[in-house]
Amino acid sequence: MSKRLKDKVIILTGAKGLLGKETQVSLKKSGAKVVAVDIFEDEMNNILTFDVTKEKEIDKLISFTMNEYGRIDGLVNLAYPRTEDWGERFENIKLSSWRENIDMQLNMVFYVCQKVLEIMKTQQSGSIVNIGSIYGVVGNDFSIYEDYDGTSPAAYSAIKGGIINFTRYLASYYGKFNIRVNSLSPGGILYENQQHPSFIEKYSKKSLLGRLGRPEEIAWPTVFLLSEEASFITGHNLMVDGGWTAI
Ligand SMILES: NC(=O)c1ccc[n+]([C@@H]2O[C@H](COP(=O)([O-])OP(=O)(O)OC[C@H]3O[C@@H](n4cnc5c(N)ncnc54)[C@H](O)[C@@H]3O)[C@@H](O)[C@H]2O)c1
Repeated sequence: MSKRLKDKVIILTGAKGLLGKETQVSLKKSGAKVVAVDIFEDEMNNILTFDVTKEKEIDKLISFTMNEYGRIDGLVNLAYPRTEDWGERFENIKLSSWRENIDMQLNMVFYVCQKVLEIMKTQQSGSIVNIGSIYGVVGNDFSIYEDYDGTSPAAYSAIKGGIINFTRYLASYYGKFNIRVNSLSPGGILYENQQHPSFIEKYSKKSLLGRLGRPEEIAWPTVFLLSEEASFITGHNLMVDGGWTAI
């Protein structure tokens, strides 16, 4: 296994989640020193508890990483905080809920990036991967939810579209400091026993590869974007979606 991130210090948020777990494994296999964080503690998997929706907690996370390792080479923003009514139908979404989700999922990506980029600028190096989605790039196909009365949250499209273009802003602003900022936009990922069979079937039919993705199929492209093998790639939104957005 190539150690393409040997000794690189990488902050990974949302490390206990579906994509976070596998991303931590791939980062470690690649030789990285991973500062894995989640709102839920998990000592067994070396996950530290930080709430990335709170400014003070983010400040503490940056101080912790600097005290422990003295540098930050990479950041992967995988945390996915959302309100309890996330997934409410468009007509019923309360403005307060919309605001809270934008604040937790978009505004805090701004804040984490701002703090990490301060450090990367002094180092004159670094690589950030923000997480978008197919629904940050194209409109929703609601037909894949209709058999079970599901939907896709309206704020999700606004947030993911925002993250993807904010990423381009950062790439442009920090390119001259030898810092790369990219986004990765996953398509649907199979989550054992969590998705309705009709969703899986309909999604798979539309995917050019005839299936949903696997968490490791997101983790390895993330490693690639962080690594020197991607040294001329910045401001890019990498679609990892089995071809969903190609047609
Ligand atoms: N899974 C998919 O099919 C898919 C598809 C497209 C995009 N994505 C994106 O990938 C990202 C990760 O998705 P996932 O499927 O792994 O989600 P997930 O819900 O499985 O994991 C998210 C993790 O974030 C953690 N988290 C929540 N609030 C937090 C907070 N305040 N501070 C720190 N950690 C917090 C959760 O505890 C959880 O472990 C999200 O941005 C999501 O939109 C996922």
